[in-house]
Amino acid sequence: MAVEEVPVLTIDGPSGAGKGAVSAAVARALGWHALDSGAVYRSIALAALERAVAPEDESALVALARSVHLTFRAGADGIDVYLDDRDVGDSLRTEAVSVMASRVAAIPALRAALLELQRAYRRRPGLVADGRDMGTIVFPDAGLKVFLEASVEERAKRRYKQLKEKGESVMLSRLFRDMQARDRRDRERAVAPTVPATDAVVVDSTRLSLKEVVEHVVGLARQRFGELAPKETNQ
Ligand code: DC
Repeated sequence: MAVEEVPVLTIDGPSGAGKGAVSAAVARALGWHALDSGAVYRSIALAALERAVAPEDESALVALARSVHLTFRAGADGIDVYLDDRDVGDSLRTEAVSVMASRVAAIPALRAALLELQRAYRRRPGLVADGRDMGTIVFPDAGLKVFLEASVEERAKRRYKQLKEKGESVMLSRLFRDMQARDRRDRERAVAPTVPATDAVVVDSTRLSLKEVVEHVVGLARQRFGELAPKETNQ
């Protein structure tokens, strides 16, 4: 099977819509590989922070992106990320890494340098790729493109619950405002804005459970890919 024949399902959308959890579960149900492109940007950000590369130093960031080795492996609860063979899972979610990731993600040369790296995850039997520009830029020929949305209120509430469970004290109103601002920046940025591809299926998860969204997307995949998305590997 030539690489362009390897089926790809893309799941894009704003932060907090549940892309990560949905993608991991859909990849498991189909028995396909998973690419968490947010973790790619976060890993570059972490490497840059550790090596004291400034977010303004575009050429050093591009060189870094070309030299790091990233691996995703299915772990006990989700996908574990290895940066140069070191498990970096927890360090990718810190505030410092989130801020740096959103800065490096706005650099066109860095995004271009990461294209090949991301496309290299397209391997048999198939790939589920999640992020912001998977269906529009990285895999424009994907056989199924999903754009996962949820209202900003619902996304702020989900984030609030997650942070509370981790014992962090946060204000819902602050999360709501931050999320609105981030949405606007992501939608309106010049490079790879978070918008649905023209041929994407928009799925609104505001009133759906994770299980319902996963079942819906797996159903769409089975319709679209037929025997390439086999039933026997069901959850
Ligand atoms: O989805 P996330 O929060 O892990 O993404 C981390 C950062 O990377 C966030 O600022 C959005 C950005 N990103 C991007 O620009 N393009 C992608 N395909 C994935 C993430």
